[in-house]
Amino acid sequence: MPDTAIAEARAKAATTGGNILQVRNLEAWYGESHILHGINFDVNAGEVVTLLGRNGAGKTTTLKSIMGVIGKRTGSVRFNNEEIIRATSDRIARMGIAFCPEERGIFASLDVRENLMLPPIVRAGGLSLDQIFELFPNLKERLSSQGTKLSGGEQQMLAIARILRTGASFLMLDEPTEGLAPVIIQQIGHTIARLKKEGFTILLVEQNFRFASTVADRYYVVEHGKIIDGFSNAELAANMDKLHAYLGV
Ligand SMILES: Nc1ncnc2c1ncn2[C@@H]1O[C@H](COP(=O)(O)OP(=O)(O)OP(=O)(O)O)[C@@H](O)[C@H]1O
Ligand SMILES: [Mg+2]
Repeated sequence: MPDTAIAEARAKAATTGGNILQVRNLEAWYGESHILHGINFDVNAGEVVTLLGRNGAGKTTTLKSIMGVIGKRTGSVRFNNEEIIRATSDRIARMGIAFCPEERGIFASLDVRENLMLPPIVRAGGLSLDQIFELFPNLKERLSSQGTKLSGGEQQMLAIARILRTGASFLMLDEPTEGLAPVIIQQIGHTIARLKKEGFTILLVEQNFRFASTVADRYYVVEHGKIIDGFSNAELAANMDKLHAYLGV
């Protein structure tokens, strides 16, 4: 895919594996509702890290707090060693963090090309349209289809493709497999594996634990606005019983 110097630099940074995101004692509120009660976790460059947890646990709120789209948040979020807890979402985007929301945010009245071109390029190193089509051949065929005409899988791919154009290198994907057929879920898994190989760092929120286990390096469990446990893929088997209890599956 990308053969630019920037992509190589991104991949090199990823393989060195330094700490890229450090979340400490993160609290967040919607109005008067206190939702996050001290979230602590880390993401290393080039990793795929998954936040697991039941409905309403605070997974989406954690991603939104990192992106700076929650009104009130306290604690510390450091990205590439820079404190961003008080930064605007615009500034956070320009630092290279992108958020792909659960509801996907595809504009129904715009076609695929228009949807792709909509988010501004915030940094060098974004994928070209050709590189995007290499990753998502379906999108090329659907280039002039309206958002409304796309299948759920195509919409999800478009939602991911859109943030790849912007130059972001830290991707936050909120339940990308939700509501999709198994064959499409598998494709999304391949895409995530490919992006990891290209040096992107990915923070994933998933309810679909089986899917997560095919792509993630590490997991954190969110419950009532806190991280209550964390383990690596290698520790997964030993933690399966605990995990079933946490997730109620
Ligand atoms: N805009 C909002 N205003 C007020 N409360 C909200 C808002 N969005 C979410 N909440 C509440 O915050 C809590 C955490 O929600 P959040 O969306 O972060 O959970 P989640 O872990 O992503 O759940 P799900 O798996 O259902 O997506 C829930 O109790 C939810 O009802
Ligand atoms: Mg959510």
